[in-house]
Amino acid sequence: GGITTIDPGYKNTGSCESGITFLDGEKGILRYRGYSIEELAEKADFLEVAYLLIFGELPTKSELEKFDRDIKEESHVDEDMKKILDGFPKSAHPMGVLSSLTNALIAFNPGSVDVDSEEEMYNAIVKILAKFPVLAAWTMRKRKSLPLDYGDNSLGYVENLHKMMFARPNKSYEPNKLVYDALDKLLILHADHEQNCSTSTVRIVGSSHAGLFASLSAGISALWGPLHGGANQAVIEMLEAIKADGGDTAKYIAKAKDKSDPFRLMGFGHRVYKNFDPRAKIIKKSAEEVLGDLGIEDPVLDIAKGLAKVALEDEYFVQRKLYPNVDFYSGIIYRALGIPTEMFTVMFALGRLPGWIAQWKEMRLRKEPIGRPRQIYIGENSRSFVELENR
Ligand code: CMC
Repeated sequence: GGITTIDPGYKNTGSCESGITFLDGEKGILRYRGYSIEELAEKADFLEVAYLLIFGELPTKSELEKFDRDIKEESHVDEDMKKILDGFPKSAHPMGVLSSLTNALIAFNPGSVDVDSEEEMYNAIVKILAKFPVLAAWTMRKRKSLPLDYGDNSLGYVENLHKMMFARPNKSYEPNKLVYDALDKLLILHADHEQNCSTSTVRIVGSSHAGLFASLSAGISALWGPLHGGANQAVIEMLEAIKADGGDTAKYIAKAKDKSDPFRLMGFGHRVYKNFDPRAKIIKKSAEEVLGDLGIEDPVLDIAKGLAKVALEDEYFVQRKLYPNVDFYSGIIYRALGIPTEMFTVMFALGRLPGWIAQWKEMRLRKEPIGRPRQIYIGENSRSFVELENR
């Protein structure tokens, strides 16, 4: 029989049981495998958090070393992948390129598709954790017309990512702990967020037993949208527009409230957080620290803080429980680190990768059925075909 109720946007529909991430939107609590995001951001590094999310426990020293070694062994990317990258125009958005390259990886790693056993899963997981930062860095280097780089396996995961993005020919690469720590923290804060749009996409694509890489490629596409991960790029563009407009925050608040105006305050509001987004709290503080430490003054940070102050006191936002989300201040840090605006959502994807993987693995190991929602049909009733000449 047909169904009689629907839930557009799945606002009140649970799709799975999950043991990965706990989120309490009223209290502003976020935990990975039981560990608070505040503590992980402070004490762990990104690779440890990736291990925790994917395998359920914090790694021991030797487990972490093995994981790191296994990843490093897979850090090469088939040279023919460069030809695919070459085919894109320089102006191509890095998210589209990244999603395409992630899908293209399947052709060069066919063994990573049909994975059923935990060992096969492990191999596919290690492959993508190793190659994804290479591809992500390539998307940036392509835009900047820089030669491609495979990084340096003597470095840690995040350090290597940074080097692959920023190393320049004929110029020594300067390691910078401050920059690494800021990046590490941001990646950890993005690493999982239970059944958000891109993660649900990864799970549903994977539920047809399409492989991990295909599922991830779909997740990247979902993340790209401005209502989801694309908001971090949209926030900076919005702040820049406000700056160019003389810093008139009140005007933009009014636009956001005006229901006949499609403009929304980017980086504000969340489906689940109705009190505050704990990630935004940490990132705001971190933005102030990083800019201070690097001696950068970015007028856009003041505009962001001003905008948030006005919005948080405005009845429209208070009534609807709209607060700054993870994307509101993150771009200010990325910018301070020299990351171009079009790369912001790629940084989000790099951070979210372990979460997507963990959720895909959980879905497969729990042998979840194929995802297939129902509908209520509202189209035409049965009709007789009309020949072309009679229409
Ligand atoms: N600016 C102005 N009004 C807003 C905003 C906003 N940013 N967000 C929500 N509202 C209003 C919305 O118009 C609605 O008003 P009314 O009840 O009068 O119709 C009410 O608040 C509830 O919003 P909703 O659109 O029904 O809520 P949702 O859960 O469907 O959407 C959201 C959540 C995040 C898509 C939305 O808040 C939004 O578009 N925010 C801006 C984009 C953004 O920052 N996205 C990043 C989300 S967090 C990280 C991530 O997922 O990547």
